[in-house]
Amino acid sequence: MSDRANQLISDILRRIHAAIVENDVTYDEYQTAKQWFIDVGEAGEWPLFGDVYIEHVVEEQAFGNRAGSQGTILGPFHLPDAPLLEPPFELPHRPDETGDRTRVSGRVTDVDGRPLAGANLDIWQADAQGRYSGFMPGPPEGNLRGQIRTDADGRYEFTTVIPGPYTIPLDGPTGRMTAAASWSPWRPAHVHLIVSAEGYEPLVTQLFIDSSDYLDNDVASAVKPELIVHPEPTGDGEYAITYDFALAPARTPAMA
Ligand code: BEZ
Ligand code: FE
Repeated sequence: MSDRANQLISDILRRIHAAIVENDVTYDEYQTAKQWFIDVGEAGEWPLFGDVYIEHVVEEQAFGNRAGSQGTILGPFHLPDAPLLEPPFELPHRPDETGDRTRVSGRVTDVDGRPLAGANLDIWQADAQGRYSGFMPGPPEGNLRGQIRTDADGRYEFTTVIPGPYTIPLDGPTGRMTAAASWSPWRPAHVHLIVSAEGYEPLVTQLFIDSSDYLDNDVASAVKPELIVHPEPTGDGEYAITYDFALAPARTPAMA
């Protein structure tokens, strides 16, 4: 076993053992926990559990001090290879898609404000009822998912609908654990993006809608104040969100 694995596994086990002692965990509770581990595996919810309760600390540890725009968790609902859209960019949606229409626009630059032409924005979001295509019943495959590129001045613009807040699945073991602890299962309304450009660190982030409930009580602990946006009414029943992204230079790989 590597020194790193030895160190990490020993530390995690030591902390679990300490929690058992400090909380006087009973045999019944241990058997319940064991069954819950089995249930999480059988339900295929380990990725969900990790992204809800662990990923935010990994993200902050990995990128908290990075120059440029703030990132936050990826979560379990990204699908690779969303279609590259044609301008004028509009996320694919149903003809009768409900929700407030909004334009989202801004610039992608380096940390010195130089525009990044041809940067890629991979975008995915829930619909107005808080449902992700490909994971939840309702929206058709590919709904509200797509990739777009910045223009020669580093500008981007796309239209979409304002997403709704949503709960993590309530009927599985992660939701049952959340209820057992009397915690809220809600995530506030947000749009996910991965902003990338050659020679720069990809930015995995989310833009949170300022009027959403649960901004201060996100089950996934992923909200950062810098990522809260205000949809400005444009006077025609629609909205406009502006947000600029600054990308940090790619890290040089450590020497072997
Ligand atoms: C999400 O943002 O889509 C998400 C993140 C963590 C857990 C569940 C969903
Ligand atoms: Fe999400």
